[in-house]
Amino acid sequence: MTGKVKTQYVCESCGSIQSRWVGKCPACGEWNTLTEQAVSPVVPDRKRMAEQGWNAAPPPRPITDGSAEPPPRLGSGLEEFDRVCGGGIVAGSLMLIGGDPGIGKSTLMMQVSRHVARSAGAVLYVSGEESFEQSRLRARRLNALEPRLFLYNETLAEVAAEELRRGQYAFAVIDSIQSMQSAGVTSVPGSMGQVRECASTFLRVAKESGVPVAMIGHVTKDGVIAGPRLLEHLVDTVLYFEGESRHALRVLRAVKNRFGPTNEVGVFEMTDGGLVEVENPSAVFLEERPAGASGSVVFPAVEGSRPVLVEVQALAGEPHGGPGRRTVTGLNSGRVALTLAVLEKRAGIRLADRDVYVNVAGGVRIDEPAADLAVALAVASSCLDRPVPENLAAFGELGLAGEVRGVESAVERMAEAAKFGFDICVCPPLPKNRKKQAAGLGRPRTVTRLTEAIQNLLENGCVETNRK
Ligand code: TYD
Ligand code: MG
Repeated sequence: MTGKVKTQYVCESCGSIQSRWVGKCPACGEWNTLTEQAVSPVVPDRKRMAEQGWNAAPPPRPITDGSAEPPPRLGSGLEEFDRVCGGGIVAGSLMLIGGDPGIGKSTLMMQVSRHVARSAGAVLYVSGEESFEQSRLRARRLNALEPRLFLYNETLAEVAAEELRRGQYAFAVIDSIQSMQSAGVTSVPGSMGQVRECASTFLRVAKESGVPVAMIGHVTKDGVIAGPRLLEHLVDTVLYFEGESRHALRVLRAVKNRFGPTNEVGVFEMTDGGLVEVENPSAVFLEERPAGASGSVVFPAVEGSRPVLVEVQALAGEPHGGPGRRTVTGLNSGRVALTLAVLEKRAGIRLADRDVYVNVAGGVRIDEPAADLAVALAVASSCLDRPVPENLAAFGELGLAGEVRGVESAVERMAEAAKFGFDICVCPPLPKNRKKQAAGLGRPRTVTRLTEAIQNLLENGCVETNRK
């Protein structure tokens, strides 16, 4: 053997592996993205690896070893944030906070840093995007001028990690992972190779030092965190911060959590003084609901462990002979298309040549099939130009045959609706074992078919318009 190291070429853009260098990646078509990498030897050379900084893992241990205590958690000072994390930030965990630029990720993490600095210990806020002055201005606005909050304008991941290891920090924020670069990778900051390498550096330091690290990641226009979809498997917790920047409401959602439930959400409002927790999202989501307008139906959604009422709005245009356009915001457009098809085929409501707009008011996003019935009633109400009663809420999944199917958390949904005065609840029949719990929760109108729901509500005199 000559001792020549065997190499391969990895595309920085798509991750495909080539055996020789070419200018254009055959897999994704990008130019000049292939970088040379050594193919790791099959038999690890422990001595050489140790020289390169590799630490031998401790020998295998029985699973019964170690403490029975749950991992220590750090409070963020924001109850909504803690709930989404599963009860606070776990020591030594690596989090990813993703979201559109300008949505408020830096604001959120600065507020969390403020609380940790006040209550637990020093915080290292690594900012690769904003100057010291910019970050300080933000901190001042957020009343976060804490002596234990340290700003660090460093973009080299290894240097930032070194500081984390050296100092006595209780928490660290990397704002953002795309602005960091690793000395070992030659590609530009923000590229997949860089993002991956920097994230692994922070993963190592979090695990070794026990300091929880939160990395902020921007989402690109097509909805993936730039590069970072590829980070999701690497980190312990992935939180998405969502909402439309023109609305003040923001929703924090856990999509992956090794230490707690997923699909939990926290609701915030962006104000002049930063993010404020919204304790009663239902009231906020329904605040501007128009009275007596057709096409509006209240839907009790279940977000994580908590039901919230949202308003589903629909507007159906006049038939115009051509194929109708569908515009959907805040709902799964595939689900809405299915619901419209069922409405047309099973309830005889002509939709093919009408433009239909369906929207969830308040900039929230609903991803449950349980919203089908509310969507169908909102569209039917708009088509027929008949408002549904003001005190009506609806939930239920629609099947292709036009049947209304049961959904989870039915009683919780009814209870939340009743709490806000929506005492007519159009929904599928409750399972037998839940009926008792639902007693006294408003006036449920159980339906098993979509046609029943529509006829009942829009044709047979149940419509109470202009109620004062
Ligand atoms: P920012 O946290 O910088 O967003 P991101 O880090 O996700 O890019 O915040 C973006 C917006 O929030 C910005 O347009 C200004 C607004 N904002 C407030 O309304 N109130 C505040 O107290 C702060 C700090 C920001
Ligand atoms: Mg920012």
